[in-house]
Amino acid sequence: MRVLTGIQASGKLHIGNYFGAMKPMVKLQEENELFTFIANYHSLTTSKDAKTLKQYTIDAAVDYLSIGIDPTKTTFWVQSHVPEVLELYWILSKFTPMGLLERGHSYKDKVANGISANHALFSYPVLMAADILMLDTQIVPVGKDQIQHVEMTRDIATKFNNEYGDIFVLPEHRVEADLATIPGIDGRKMSKSYDNAIDLFMDEKPLQKRCNKIISSSTPLGEALAWEDDNIYALASLFLDETQKQELQVRYQSGLEGYGHFKKYLKELIWEELGEAREKRAYYLSHMDEVNDILAHGATKASKVAQAKMSKVREAIGL
Ligand code: ADP
Ligand code: TRP
Repeated sequence: MRVLTGIQASGKLHIGNYFGAMKPMVKLQEENELFTFIANYHSLTTSKDAKTLKQYTIDAAVDYLSIGIDPTKTTFWVQSHVPEVLELYWILSKFTPMGLLERGHSYKDKVANGISANHALFSYPVLMAADILMLDTQIVPVGKDQIQHVEMTRDIATKFNNEYGDIFVLPEHRVEADLATIPGIDGRKMSKSYDNAIDLFMDEKPLQKRCNKIISSSTPLGEALAWEDDNIYALASLFLDETQKQELQVRYQSGLEGYGHFKKYLKELIWEELGEAREKRAYYLSHMDEVNDILAHGATKASKVAQAKMSKVREAIGL
């Protein structure tokens, strides 16, 4: 299957991103033809300045490569390095009724949250449709908030195909159904907007400090602890198999250890899980030429597919 994922680069990644988005993506490349890009044209809609957008783009590239995006398996590039997508975006605009965009949840939410409306924000789903359709994408893995964008893509493609022939593949969205929401240190959904995240790549001491801030109940040492709705347990269990989870439950119930012990244990789990990624990241950060080569190679591969598609599209519509 040809699978396309777009990464919105917006700063430091956290444990929620790791389990909710990055790990599942890395898994996809084993059995699919994975295309992954950093959506910097999309990020422009909310970008504050040039330096930050550039930095976020490169940080996302390094972090995803470190976590395991394998450039020998996956085509990995930066969206703006394949500008054909902007031509398709214009062409698809002609097949996008105003009403379709006016119904966009994401646009309406952003405006309701005080982001000032502009055309890029409004037509964001058309650019996303161009990303998807340009590469004959079959599957688009998304979070729930992005399902509507894939549905809009199908509507736009259908309208085009009805008028000009079967040019575009109709994509399907895929949502990881059983994916739990990962809690932050205060128990709410971990999010960089709530200041409750545990960042992925922290040094060991600040990581322990962050884990120490996790809110848990105030059961005194010596009493059995309830693991069921404990945040430390919820986070630790992400790293454990069934047997290990049961062992941890027994430790909670024994009354021999307090939350401090489990915070140390959680830090160890995080530190260990990311050991290999940390090494890779240090390597890439001191070999940025290699990162740039990987992205350039990815852009060349994506460009080839895009150019072939665009020739067909231009011919079909008479450009
Ligand atoms: P944030 O809420 O920190 O801004 P993003 O919205 O940038 O995170 O999320 C990027 C990706 O990470 C999305 O695919 C989202 O589903 C996933 N993700 C983010 N936070 C969590 C979480 N707490 N639990 C599970 N998945 C998450
Ligand atoms: N809009 C997506 C998000 O916010 C990012 C994205 C842009 C994307 N283009 C895409 C995702 C194409 C999948 C396919 O997460």
